[in-house]
Amino acid sequence: MPVVKVQDGRVAVVTFGEPPVNSLGLTTRRDLAAALDAAITDPATAAIVLGGANGLFSAGADITEFGTPKMLAAPNLIDLIALIEASPKPIVAAIEGTCLGGGFEIALGCNYRVAGSGARLGLPEVKLGLLPGAGGTQRLPRLVGVEPALNLILSGEPVPATAFKGSPLLDRIVEGPVVAAAVELANAKVEELSGRAPPRVRNRPLREPALDAFLGFARNSIKAAFPNYPAPLAIVDAIASAATQDFDAGIAAERRWFSELLHGPVSGALRHLFFAERAAAKIPDVPESTPLREVKRVGVIGAGTMGTGITINFLNAGIPVVLLELGREALDKGVARIAETYEGQVRKGRLTKEDALARRSLLDATLNYPDLAECDLVIEAVFEDMDVKRQVFERLDASLKPGAILASNTSTLDLDRIAAVTKRPSDVIGMHFFSPANVMKLLEVVRGRATGKDVLATVMKLARTIRKTAVVSGVCDGFIGNRMLEQYLRQALFMLDEGASPAEIDRAIEGFGFAMGPFRMSDLAGNDIGWHIRKRRYADTPTMVYSRIADRVCELGRLGQKTGSGWYDYRPGDRNAQPSAVVDELISSYRAELGLVPRKFTKAEIVDRLVYALVNEGAKILDEGIATRASDIDLVYLYGYGFPAWRGGPMGYADAVGAFSVVHRMAEFARNPHGDPAFWTPAPLLARLAASGGAFNSTGVRS
Ligand code: 3HC
Ligand code: NAI
Repeated sequence: MPVVKVQDGRVAVVTFGEPPVNSLGLTTRRDLAAALDAAITDPATAAIVLGGANGLFSAGADITEFGTPKMLAAPNLIDLIALIEASPKPIVAAIEGTCLGGGFEIALGCNYRVAGSGARLGLPEVKLGLLPGAGGTQRLPRLVGVEPALNLILSGEPVPATAFKGSPLLDRIVEGPVVAAAVELANAKVEELSGRAPPRVRNRPLREPALDAFLGFARNSIKAAFPNYPAPLAIVDAIASAATQDFDAGIAAERRWFSELLHGPVSGALRHLFFAERAAAKIPDVPESTPLREVKRVGVIGAGTMGTGITINFLNAGIPVVLLELGREALDKGVARIAETYEGQVRKGRLTKEDALARRSLLDATLNYPDLAECDLVIEAVFEDMDVKRQVFERLDASLKPGAILASNTSTLDLDRIAAVTKRPSDVIGMHFFSPANVMKLLEVVRGRATGKDVLATVMKLARTIRKTAVVSGVCDGFIGNRMLEQYLRQALFMLDEGASPAEIDRAIEGFGFAMGPFRMSDLAGNDIGWHIRKRRYADTPTMVYSRIADRVCELGRLGQKTGSGWYDYRPGDRNAQPSAVVDELISSYRAELGLVPRKFTKAEIVDRLVYALVNEGAKILDEGIATRASDIDLVYLYGYGFPAWRGGPMGYADAVGAFSVVHRMAEFARNPHGDPAFWTPAPLLARLAASGGAFNSTGVRS
């Protein structure tokens, strides 16, 4: 039962919600309205306390109802809150735990609010590309003022109840049982009011000096900070309405903006990603009840770029790490790099000295495998070389205790071949971190042929502990992210051959919303990484057509920022990319060699060729079962490669464009006399979707 009403003397205590988060779906809203009506009309009831079940108030509107008739069906949230606010009997919200979105808006519609000191309140709608749509933009400023309300709504972050101490938002903040305190307050208010109507937030005056100047400043800052997100500006406008119009006009304006945003592409993309994040943790053939292994101590092999970043993740989570290297010098360098990272954070005020010290004290450095004996998980991050990795895994197999998990951070190598050198392949898994490993949110968890379900479940859980978004990938060259990236980069190079410049390509895709274009990204990561992969490709897949222009750049020693030049030139100490006359000349002479006369590119062609290269490879990855679901691919690109969230990831974007249109455009590219028609052959899944009108994100889950 989503709603329960019990009588406590003359106070009716109404408790609502169903696990896990008491979201406000239609059934809950209907039952809640009925229970409140009953209490309001019951002569034995003088006041009402409204609280959530399951230890929390509510996470807000039921997001799964958005865009469906259920969302608008009566009573919708606005109707429900109007009913609460119109009550002649005082209603006290008893706020425990999470109180978000529409849940918070219900509390704002109550006459009084009592919160537990552990409660967290917020209006996270902006993260879904929305504004609070049930009066939040109108009532919150009336309680806390325009600027604090704007900050809370724009950030979307929940705030501890204790932060509102002394604010009229919360009448009481209590340590003990919240409902009992709310009942006590309700009784006191019945006496105090003695039949008068209870106070209503909608009637509170909102007077703000210098409002226009503040709102003008807010609008300008928001336009600069969120050029592609419509919700933040709508939030300012809605709050401006609260401050300048009567309550009903403000609510009507808020409702209009909410509906506009809800049906716009950005909110669609962000809601898709919200569910994508939750879905990624679910592995179809690994039940939630799978027993987990304990991970109390971690080993990391290799104290280079990745090993040190990986180590920091665990130290930050309070998990001790043993870091192992081949030689003393490399080990000392790695330990020093970790120390420098913490010192930098202390200097920037992001960490206290004490915390930094505490984290560093969890690190042990060693040259000896027996020191890993107590580790529950060891992650290898040595050179990307199969022989070196296999040697390391043989030694790990001999040194680690039974039940320890053996992980590799390989970005391209066959995990099954690595696992095969051990006597315990079911304990072997891939943990592919992204650089810088202590910053990037993505973790590709590579499931080998033999990887145990408990090992997979343990690593997925551990990913949450170290605050990563984990996506499961099957074994293939490059896994999900780098396998798709290879096709994207090939396409970028073909466009150079045909007449585009690196800066033109970077600008076009950055204009689409990518954090960085392919050439700036290559310069940052090091052009030798791609060079190494291409050399392997020339040997193992000679049929794959490749522009050789990138090799020429590397042959000049232009390996990117680390060598001071790459696709661009870099001034010492300056990461700003400057177009390079040397590279321009190199590209021109390469075009001449190929007999290609350079032509002009539109931004749209550049963007479509790059993005559809990702989409087509993504479709293959999905069809082969390497990715479990399309939304997993979207998360990989969002968190690993800087794909714009507001576009929903490559597969979500393709769904928005429509598979039919994607395939049609690819056919145009295939007709390009200098294109590679094989490249643009639609993957079977994409072709099927184009024919059926289907979408990647409804293609179901694979196991
Ligand atoms: N509606 C529907 N389902 C929701 C939901 C919501 N508002 N909030 C969470 N869920 C679901 C999740 O999808 C997940 O489902 P699953 O188990 O099937 O995957 C389940 O509840 C548990 O969620 P989490 O895994 O995220 O659990 P956590 O404990 O890590 O986090 C939380 C809980 C902090 C409440 C987090 O889920 C969250 O931030 N939820 C979204 C809150 C939100 O955005 N609210 C605003 C909604 S919009 C609104 O109210 C509009 C109004 O202004 C008109
Ligand atoms: P790196 O060259 O910076 O570090 C490798 C370290 O391993 C060196 O310090 C080296 O001394 C040490 N090492 C080599 N052989 C060893 C052995 N047998 N025993 C102990 N230590 C040994 O390399 P990087 O960039 O950290 O890469 C490591 C791994 O991470 C590779 O598999 C790479 O493909 C993968 N990776 C790299 C990414 C990147 O952007 N650099 C991103 C994701 C994965």
